[in-house]
Amino acid sequence: MDVLINVFVGLHIIGIASLLGGFLTQMKAMGAGTARFTPPMLHGALTMLVTGIALVGLNQAQDHTLNNVKLGIKLAILVVILGLVYVKRDDEKVEKALFGAVGGLTAVNIFVAVLWT
Ligand code: HEM
Repeated sequence: MDVLINVFVGLHIIGIASLLGGFLTQMKAMGAGTARFTPPMLHGALTMLVTGIALVGLNQAQDHTLNNVKLGIKLAILVVILGLVYVKRDDEKVEKALFGAVGGLTAVNIFVAVLWT
């Protein structure tokens, strides 16, 4: 089961790469106000949700203790990210502030995950 948990952590990290990568590759476009939420960003955010929930289940099945407050905060932030990316997925341009907010919130979630031990 531990191998399965590690596989899902790997998939969770692939999700971060897709979401954050989609943001980072468009930082120049963001400056010009022409960035858009691309399919890898939406799929990355969905991957985070699915793998995160799977990780909670797998850890609980193994009686591993999880920090529920930390996970609740990560889930709340991800719901905001997913909502923004989903609603604006067909917009050809997204305002600078909104696009920046998705990148910023993703970075916040990464630091919540790694600094809150
Ligand atoms: C953008 C959103 C997210 C980011 C950037 C993120 C980031 C990370 C990172 C870097 C790790 C590995 C380091 C660690 O073990 O803490 C991790 C693990 C984990 N994440 Fe996420 N995560 C996100 C969303 C979620 C969501 C929504 C859930 C579930 C509600 C979740 C549940 C978990 C679990 C259960 C683990 C492994 C168990 C542990 O804390 O040791 N994550 N996440």
